[in-house]
Amino acid sequence: MTKESYFTEEDSAEAVNARMGDNINPRLAEVMSSLVRHLHAFAKDIDLRQEEWDLAIEFLTRTGQICSPERQEFILLSDTLGVSMLVDAINNRRPSGATENTVFGPFHVAEAPIRAMGDSINLESKGESCLFEGRVVDIDGNPIQGATVDVWSDNADGYYDVQQPDIQPKFNNRGRFITEADGIYSFVGIKPVAYPIPDDGPVGKMLSALGRHPNRPAHLHFLITAPGYEKIVTHIFDGEDKWLSSDAVFGVKESLIAPFEPNTEKTQWRASFDFVMVKS
Ligand code: BEZ
Ligand code: FE
Repeated sequence: MTKESYFTEEDSAEAVNARMGDNINPRLAEVMSSLVRHLHAFAKDIDLRQEEWDLAIEFLTRTGQICSPERQEFILLSDTLGVSMLVDAINNRRPSGATENTVFGPFHVAEAPIRAMGDSINLESKGESCLFEGRVVDIDGNPIQGATVDVWSDNADGYYDVQQPDIQPKFNNRGRFITEADGIYSFVGIKPVAYPIPDDGPVGKMLSALGRHPNRPAHLHFLITAPGYEKIVTHIFDGEDKWLSSDAVFGVKESLIAPFEPNTEKTQWRASFDFVMVKS
């Protein structure tokens, strides 16, 4: 097919892709021609009706319109369609034994306070206290010194501090901890609670039209970095949570379920989890 060919239903994707110029970035050419092929195949597969395509464009328009510096509805769309987890899986294949990644989510805040080992990240008097502890090690089990354990979680009401800037203290349930030569980290927080992803926008409407709930099982987020190692973006999950097998964003992996045990000492609960890093 030549660049000047007329469009036909039968050869629609080929007609579009044939228009591409000659000196196009090869990766852009690969990505766009595949996108066009799949998009056209999708429309043909379902005999896409005009009113359905109009609705799709209106949906994407509303998705863009609700975005702000505090809200990224397109990421939520990618999360709820499983694309975030797929892209993460493609880009973070690790040997067995290494800690698995999961979805980053929209609530990380850079530059959370660096706290002393054992400190509390919970700046409110709510929630069931929980001691979190473990080690950051390499694939052979050797402790990693100088790893940053950056942690964030929702509060006992199921909201992150950034969702309630007028209610919660800044950096509530957040902190960074830097490991010493033993690789050990420990801090006190709350036993996390399940919460719904923001569902008052187009993505929430899509979920409800599909008979899907917006809930995420209780989890604590971690971003682990150390010089010379691949960063780990992950969670630990409470294995007792009722949403564990139906996470709205498909983030649960069996290896990330941590035991939450009643604690006899200063906190009501204790969860231990080791992070295993791979050299970069
Ligand atoms: C989160 O766990 O913070 C999250 C992940 C994906 C979408 C919304 C929230
Ligand atoms: Fe979360």
